[in-house]
Amino acid sequence: MADEPRIPLDFTRLSPEEMVERSRALRDEFARRRSVRDFDPTPVPREVLENAILAAGSAPSGANMQPWHFVVVTDPEIKHEIRELAQETERSFYDKRITDEWRGALEPLGVDTTKPFLTGAPALIVVFRRNFVADESGKLHKTYYPMESTGLATGMLIAALHMAGLATLPYTPSPMAFLRDVLERPETDYPFLVLAAGYPTADATVPAITREPLESIATFVDGD
Ligand SMILES: Cc1cc2nc3c(=O)[nH]c(=O)nc-3n(C[C@H](O)[C@H](O)[C@H](O)COP(=O)(O)O)c2cc1C
Repeated sequence: MADEPRIPLDFTRLSPEEMVERSRALRDEFARRRSVRDFDPTPVPREVLENAILAAGSAPSGANMQPWHFVVVTDPEIKHEIRELAQETERSFYDKRITDEWRGALEPLGVDTTKPFLTGAPALIVVFRRNFVADESGKLHKTYYPMESTGLATGMLIAALHMAGLATLPYTPSPMAFLRDVLERPETDYPFLVLAAGYPTADATVPAITREPLESIATFVDGD
């Protein structure tokens, strides 16, 4: 460890006033992020997707294993195939596996077994998590905290796309192993989440939801 090369940290210390100002602006901008289910099919600039994925790829990860892989699908035929297979799993989930409680939680969101956004969104970013990563020689190494790390990267991806002016929808079919087969990923890649991304339609609506206030989502343990 002592022999590992080290570089100076690239960090700019801000004044408390500027920090507060930035944190407020970010809070308000993030509060405007909503999961969108009505997408305009207009293609999005590829570089925006690439930059957002690079931002996601800068997430912290257990032992810096970077246990993620992002597959960007814009091919209409593959999107169609994903939609068909996803709707099949949804029908079986709603018929056989959903609990009454889960159904109740989904009801206000108006979601059902049809998934038009899977073909309507110009891009589907399928996020995979890796329990093993290969080094240059092809040798596999176990990753650490792949779930947590990929969740963090996915959060950063959503934030980066939002800040770049795109809407997203996280979508989690259950089970989602079919995504590995359709996208021809190796056995070591586990589907984690599908992120539909694009512009919302001009008349898009979203469920009226509330967000918990600070006092219910945070506890500050102060010494004085
Ligand atoms: C891990 C995860 C899985 C989700 N899965 C689905 C899904 O399968 N289908 C769907 O329509 N929305 C899905 N959502 C979106 C949530 O319903 C949405 O984030 C929540 O209702 C809050 O709304 P907001 O994102 O607009 O703030 C998912 C969100 C997360 C974080």
